[in-house]
Amino acid sequence: MKDTFKAVKIFDDVYWVGAIDWDIRHFHGYLTSRGTTYNAFLILTDKVTLIDTVKASASDEMFARIASVIDPEKIDYIVSNHAEMDHSGALPEAIKRIQPEKVFATKMGAKALGQHFDLPCDITIVGDGETLDLGSDKITFAETKMCHWPDSMVTYQHGRQILYTQDAFGMHLAGLERYADEYDQTILDYEATKYYANILMHLAGFIDKTLEKLTALNLDISMIAPDHGPIWRTPEDIAKIIGDYSRWSAQKPTDKVVVVYDSMWGSTAKMARAIGEGLSEGGVKAKLMSMSSCHRSDVVTEILDAGGLVVGSATMNNNMQPAMADVTTYAGGLKPRNLVAGAFGSYGWSGEASKNLQAWLEGLGLNVITDPLRVNYVPNSDDLATCRQFGIDIAKATLASLQGNE
Ligand code: FEO
Repeated sequence: MKDTFKAVKIFDDVYWVGAIDWDIRHFHGYLTSRGTTYNAFLILTDKVTLIDTVKASASDEMFARIASVIDPEKIDYIVSNHAEMDHSGALPEAIKRIQPEKVFATKMGAKALGQHFDLPCDITIVGDGETLDLGSDKITFAETKMCHWPDSMVTYQHGRQILYTQDAFGMHLAGLERYADEYDQTILDYEATKYYANILMHLAGFIDKTLEKLTALNLDISMIAPDHGPIWRTPEDIAKIIGDYSRWSAQKPTDKVVVVYDSMWGSTAKMARAIGEGLSEGGVKAKLMSMSSCHRSDVVTEILDAGGLVVGSATMNNNMQPAMADVTTYAGGLKPRNLVAGAFGSYGWSGEASKNLQAWLEGLGLNVITDPLRVNYVPNSDDLATCRQFGIDIAKATLASLQGNE
């Protein structure tokens, strides 16, 4: 391990000592197509400090990187910005091996860590705004509740102007390059959007509070160092990711309508294609996503910056098809907002699927503009013309909704 993994220098006294998970593809329901990183940071001040740890299974990699610059036993403090196990899993072993003088977390962090692990030491609770003297530098803690968990906080290192932000401003992207400006912008944009949509979309109110808090603190920030993916270090990149979060939390509608569906014998798919054509004729961008070929987390990513959502399913055993139950359960928990919506589907004799999808849309408080569009068995040419018109109507309502959101 020690000959394979080295710490990556950020400054003479700050190192990245995290782990790269090239292989992970399923992150509690989220398809992490490009893997991820669990970032931990080592600050070599008078009081040597480790910011966050890594997933338990990546502990050896983190320790090897630490050992490439310092004997791990020389670490005095460990800061836990976030208790979720992708960042705290290696904490019990770290405490055991390092025996740090202190481990810091928020009050909720101390509680959560205690409920996850049988830790061999007490956690020192830090208050919102509290500053810790590290000797040759100092760090200040700021609580950022529900960004991502109740325990979440960010840590600001004054001398180096680094904001360590745990999940916030992160993305699932494995790679040996440590800085965002070393990656293709298209990849960064997609993975940051996907991360926000799948992890933080339902917490928009808390994201706003975090952004307001960071603005009020008026910090000079030279780097944003999240716990996943690359570090933002250019003024342009820092301004962009903060601006992206502000835009995503508002979830303003656009002229894109996502059509999510699953078909049984091809009839609902034919309806979806005709609806898509109608959407385009009506002046919006249509994005058709069949659940036989798309992943739920990519669907949610598309929904984040859409203005409309149309969901369809064939009726099977008096209900929607299993793939639609999957994506509606997942997407519903992430609470999409500000969408014009509609439901459709083919049926044989009872036709509950589109009604249940309509109820799901209404339960989310979306702007459902019409009754469910249902076709008995296989759509004929008149049915397909009706589907096309349904798409045109959704497009018009979506474009009208943009006026009210400008
Ligand atoms: Fe990356 Fe909420 O943990």
